[in-house]
This record gives sequence, C-alpha cells and structure tokens, in this order.
Amino acid sequence: MADARPFHWEYEEPPVEREAFRVEGGRPLRGEVAVSGAKNAALKLLAAATLTGERCRFTNVPEIADIRVLVETLRDLGVVVDHPAPNTYEVAAGDVDWLFVPLEAAAKMRASFILLGPLLARFGRVIISNPGGDRIGRRPVNLHVDAMRALGARIDYRNGYYFAQAPGRLRGGTVTFPGVTVMGTENAILAATLADGHTTITPAAREPEVDDLIAFLRAMGAEVERTAPEVIEVEGRRRLRGAEHRVMADRIEAGTFAIAAAITGGEVTLHGAPVGALGAFLDVLTRVGVDVRTEGETIVVRGAPTGSGAYRATDIRTDPYPGLATDLQSPTAVLLTQASGTSRIHETIFEDRLEWLDDLRRMGARLEIEDAHHATIHGPARLHGAEVAMSDLRAGASLILGALAADGESLIHGTHQVRRGYENIEDKLLSLGARIERLSDR
Ligand code: UD1
Repeated sequence: MADARPFHWEYEEPPVEREAFRVEGGRPLRGEVAVSGAKNAALKLLAAATLTGERCRFTNVPEIADIRVLVETLRDLGVVVDHPAPNTYEVAAGDVDWLFVPLEAAAKMRASFILLGPLLARFGRVIISNPGGDRIGRRPVNLHVDAMRALGARIDYRNGYYFAQAPGRLRGGTVTFPGVTVMGTENAILAATLADGHTTITPAAREPEVDDLIAFLRAMGAEVERTAPEVIEVEGRRRLRGAEHRVMADRIEAGTFAIAAAITGGEVTLHGAPVGALGAFLDVLTRVGVDVRTEGETIVVRGAPTGSGAYRATDIRTDPYPGLATDLQSPTAVLLTQASGTSRIHETIFEDRLEWLDDLRRMGARLEIEDAHHATIHGPARLHGAEVAMSDLRAGASLILGALAADGESLIHGTHQVRRGYENIEDKLLSLGARIERLSDR
C-alpha cells in the first residue's frame, strides 16, 4: 500500500449547494412519466465493475448525486469511469493503485461501503472508512465486516477505518447473517465471486436489486445462483470479464410518483415501471382504495378527488422484500393522511425513519409517533403549506409529496437530500403540471 498520502482524520461536512423548493400545492398531477434506473441497483453494479480489469458498460444509470459520489470515489482510486452519454457509464478498473476509501466518500454516502467486498477480493487489501465514523451504532456495517471475515479476511479497526486484508485469495465459506441485510448480502456476493471455492450466503436478501446484481455478475462470468429464496451460492472464479448491463427500474421512484397522483386527485401513467417488484406496495394502494391498473411495464394511477374522503385507512408494516419496502414507508404515510380513519405504521427495519413525521405534522397532518418503530395517522387531514427541511432522502421526497397535496405554498429546504436518489425530480413533476420552483437558499 502506498502510504504516502495522509489519512483524513478530521472531517468537516463540505458546503452543499443551498437550495430550496417552493411548491404551490393543490394541483392534480396529470401526464406520463418514465421511471429512471434504480439507485440501489446502479451503485452496486458500478462497484461490481471493479472485479475485473476489463471495461464494463452500464445503461439506464440514474443521474443522481449518489452515483456522482461513487464515480468520484472510483476515480480517486485510479479507476477509469467514462460518461459517454446521459445515463450511460463505462468503468475500467485496470489499474487501481490507491486502495483507500476515505471518510469524505463514506460520510456523503453510506453505500460507498459496497466497495469493501470487490476491492478486497480482487486486490487482497483495502482501507475503508466506517460510514458511521467513530460513532458506534450509527449506520452499522458490522455484518459486512463479519461476512468478509467468514471468507478469510483479516480486518482491523483503527481510528474510524477498517484495514482489510486477504493474504493470497479470499476463500469460500458460509456466511450466515443474523437477519436480512441488503448491502451485506451484496458485499458477500461480490467478495465470493473471486474467492477460492464455494460460498453459501443465508439468509440472503431477496430484494430485486440483488438479483439485478447477480444477472450482471453472471454476464461477467461469475458463478452465482439463488438456489432457494433466501440462499445464494457462489463458486469463486479466478477472474471475471467485462460485460454490459441495463440497470433495472427504480421501484421507489415509481412508488413515489404513484402516490403523487393518488394524493393530488390526478392521473399519472408510469412507463418502464418494475411492476413485478412492487407487489406489496400496489397491494397497499388497493387496500386504501386507489384506482391503480398495471399492464406490462405500465402503471396507471387515478387519484380520487382531494377532500372526497374516498380513501380508507389501513395499517402498514415494512419488511424485507417481498414485504413493503421501508423506502416507501414515508411516501405511503403521506397517502395515509388522506385516508378516512386511523392508520398504524410499523417500521421494522430502521430506527430513524419516523422522525420526519414531525415535519408532516407541520403541514397539518394529524399523527402520533409512539416510538422509533410505531406511528398512528388520523385522516383525512387537510394539509397546508409550511416551511420545512429535508432530513434525508426518503423524508425529502415525502415532504415534496405533502406539499403537492397541501393548500398553499410550501418552502422545502435541503434539496440536495432528494437529489441523492431522484433523477430530475422537479422536471418530472413540472411535466405533470406541478408548481415547483428551485430557489437559491443563500
Ligand atoms: C439498503 C438500501 C436502503 C434500504 C435498505 C432496506 C442501498 C444502497 N440501500 O440499505 O435504501 O432502505 O436496504 O431495504 O441499497 N444492519 C446492521 N449491521 C450491518 C448492516 C445492517 O445492524 O452491518 C441493520 C440496519 O441498521 C438495519 C437492518 O440491518 O436495521 C437492515 O439494513 P440493510 O438491509 O443492511 O440496509 P442497507 O443494505 O444498508
């Protein structure tokens, strides 16, 4: 390891572009929207390309801030990343001479930890920042680290960094997770593709983005197979080759726009939607009484007129796939503010995904947050404009939804949060007739 470059022990959040959205609510959204590529697939696919020195090509990559962060991180490592056309990226990881993923990358995006498995497997060593910094328990990655150890890696933790080594090659083994972890599963798969021997991963996450990754790895020549719903087996190969892949569609973006139509009493047609991956979510829409029809890769959502009281309250519970995605929990909460009766939310995956409901309350929602995992929403509530700030990506999108359904004007600060994961969200909303405007927030 070329140790000449200093580590960044001190980290200060870089200045982010200060921007707010001004939203004039109460207009039904009407029209057609093309669903973008999935953030949670694209990030892992670009990371997977470092498993080979040959060129890999990806289409339908969403143009979002999280992809830019990963691209910059890869380039800092010496990986060539070309961007020949919008939504197309080419990655060639021939010479990677700097196996160090700094805190800057990890602090901006936890998913940069997905580089651990492929870099360790291909180059035998990597130093990678803990995305939670030294704050134990925040954004934990212990399951990723345990998985690498199960494959023979030696990993030490010092001063916020994991120093990982695999003298010789990683060796196949049994990776047993205590519960479902999406990126943990993906990191284990990525590492195992170049390990010596056979690996079994259980319980393996069933999220469709994991299978998108598997499809690409197989095109690279990897031997990876989901042999049972929660079991993935990998036979390690000595080397993989370059391949091409079209990123699957983003089910979270599709769900967000479906709710935008439902809560504004509009009618939106979603093209290129991952209908098969949205089962639990479409089921919730149907239970609430939203008119939703699917045909092939198209979803048509017709909202009931606002204030008509046509929607029914329902209880929702997030779960690993095929359950309702935690990333769609907050958009669904906005829908439930418009449903008659009392709805309960049970968030089973994360501890901090209900806090943003305080902001929704400032828009007039009637709700109680009982604890980190449970909330109750009483509807229908007439939402009104408010001044709020996005605390994270999913909360950000949901505040925009709230503002679209509200009477009057909202000012939503912190738009960089939603840019992390939604491609061109304001242009897409404008094309549906929303009144949304970007303001400099200095
Ligand atoms: C991924 C998605 C995220 C989604 C989540 C759950 C990406 C980039 N992000 O995140 O959008 O909300 O799946 O579907 O794909 N955990 C640990 N230790 C670990 C790893 C996870 O305790 O080492 C815990 C987490 O805190 C959480 C649970 O395991 O409570 C599941 O998290 P996980 O499935 O790993 O989420 P991510 O893969 O990080």
